[in-house]
Amino acid sequence: MIRKIVVINSKGGCGKTTLSTNLASYYASHGYPTALFDYDPQDSATRWLAQRPEDLTGIHGVAAAHPPEENITRSFQLRVPPGTQRLILDTPASLKRMELIEILRDAWAIIVPILPSTIDSCVTSDFLKDLDKELRLYAPDASIAIVANRVRRNTRAFQTLMKFLEDKGMPPVTCLRDSQNYVQASADGMGIHEMKANFTRVDREHWQSLIDWLEAEPLHSDAGTCDAENRSIA
Ligand SMILES: Nc1ncnc2c1ncn2[C@@H]1O[C@H](COP(=O)(O)OP(=O)(O)O)[C@@H](O)[C@H]1O
Ligand SMILES: [Mg+2]
Repeated sequence: MIRKIVVINSKGGCGKTTLSTNLASYYASHGYPTALFDYDPQDSATRWLAQRPEDLTGIHGVAAAHPPEENITRSFQLRVPPGTQRLILDTPASLKRMELIEILRDAWAIIVPILPSTIDSCVTSDFLKDLDKELRLYAPDASIAIVANRVRRNTRAFQTLMKFLEDKGMPPVTCLRDSQNYVQASADGMGIHEMKANFTRVDREHWQSLIDWLEAEPLHSDAGTCDAENRSIA
C-alpha cells in the first residue's frame, strides 16, 4: 500500500526539505520503493536527488512545482512507479489553495517541522489552525507529527518551544539536533541513514521516534517522546 507523507509548514527554513530528503533516503535505503515529489519551485529536493550517488537505492523524483510538459497530463506527471510504497511530498512556504488541496488529498501523515524560535512558533501556530480546516476536508484520516528541528537542548529557546508545544497539546514526536551531518547529507544527495553510522548514531536515534510513529499500526496515538530526560542531544 502506498503511504503519502506530506512535509509542510508555511515558515521558510524550518527544515521541510531536510526532513523530506532524509525520509525518502531512509525509506529507500530500508527497502521501501520510494517516490519524492518536490512542490517547491526552488527545486531543492530535485537538486538533492540529482546529486544522489548511483550506488545508493534510487528514488523516483517528480518536480511537481512545474507544469507537465506539452502533451502530458498532470496526472501522468504525478504517476508513481508500480509497487511504490512511500510517497514523500516536499512543499514550499507558500501555496495556492488548489495546490494545497492536491498536496493534502488522501495524505497518510503530515509532518510539520518547527525551529526553536518565537517567530517560528507564532507562524506555525497560525499555520496549524489553517491546516486543520483543510485536513478535515481533504485528508480526514491523516495524523500530524510535529518535529522540533535544529534543537540545541541547553538553550532557553528549546525550553520555550517545548513549553509552547505542550501548552498546545502537541508535543513533538521527535527533536532533531542542529548538526552538520544534515548539511553534509544534503550536499551529497544522501540522508543521515546512508552516512557512516559512527558519525550519525545520535541523529539516527532521534529519527527512530519519527519512523516508529510513521510506521505504527494503527497510526498514531502517542506523540511526545521528546522530553528532556530520555534523549541526549549533544
Ligand atoms: N537539523 C539541522 N541541523 C543543521 N542544519 C539544518 C538542520 N535542518 C535544516 N538545516 C539547514 O537549514 C537550512 C534550511 O533547511 P531546509 O530543509 O532547506 O528548510 P525549508 O525546506 O523548510 O526551507 C538548510 O541549509 C539546511 O541544511
Ligand atoms: Mg525547502
